[in-house]
Amino acid sequence: MNWLLRGLRSSVGLKFVMAVTGLLLFGFVLAHLAGNLQIFAGADQLNGYAKSLQDLGPLLWVARGGLLAIFVLHVGTGVMLARRNRAARGTPYAVQKAIDSTHASRAMVSTGVVVMIFVVYHLMHFTLGVGIRPEFHDWTDPQGRHDVYSMVVAGFQQLPIALFYIVSMLGLGVHLSHGLASMFQSLGWNQPKYRSFTRLLGIGITAVIILGNISMPVAAQFGLIELPEWNPLVNGGN
Ligand code: HEM
Repeated sequence: MNWLLRGLRSSVGLKFVMAVTGLLLFGFVLAHLAGNLQIFAGADQLNGYAKSLQDLGPLLWVARGGLLAIFVLHVGTGVMLARRNRAARGTPYAVQKAIDSTHASRAMVSTGVVVMIFVVYHLMHFTLGVGIRPEFHDWTDPQGRHDVYSMVVAGFQQLPIALFYIVSMLGLGVHLSHGLASMFQSLGWNQPKYRSFTRLLGIGITAVIILGNISMPVAAQFGLIELPEWNPLVNGGN
């Protein structure tokens, strides 16, 4: 615990914590995307996958707790670093460097806020089933499993919801591409000989995440994924 407190006092330590927590969150987003893309394999596949996660029971709660702790550390160190950046801006040293890093850190703060708003909305929508079409959250499939497939498709068939997800994913994309570049730097993976590789890697992974996430609301809007025949909305009502 002491090492953590000591680390949190220095900017290098803060950047390291940001980089490591960013890397872990990034891993979550990739794994979550891989899970969600099973929507294209149909309701049975996605609902089975969601059930296998639910069946983890207490382990799922441990993972959720870990994810929350990582998220809080990431946002907390981000706020501390942004404050330090702002305070340092008043000092005369390395003016040009400060201007460059100001642009990058402003982009990180503003897109970070977009991602935070998205996560709160997203948890209310799909995990808690409050506020945003909560009636879609209560459906079950013919096997009695939580009908995650119908919940997601019906949600994304609503144009304002689909647009909200698409715009948020663009914000997430900017956050990830800047974040990955500074993560490579903080972890010392940006030596000149690797720089073009890490840059390409960052752009490539970010593109996969944005396009993968956007593909789901877009597919629902264009009728490429549709509600299954057992869904109550299929035979009238909305
Ligand atoms: C179109 C893209 C996405 C879809 C279709 C989607 C779908 C879902 C669904 C269905 C759940 C609820 C799982 C359940 O309770 O059964 C969920 C939970 C969650 N999602 Fe997403 N998600 C997407 C993008 C994202 C992104 C980009 C992030 C992070 C930036 C994210 C973060 C989370 C978190 C933190 C949870 C809660 C996990 C848990 O409580 O176990 N999601 N998502």
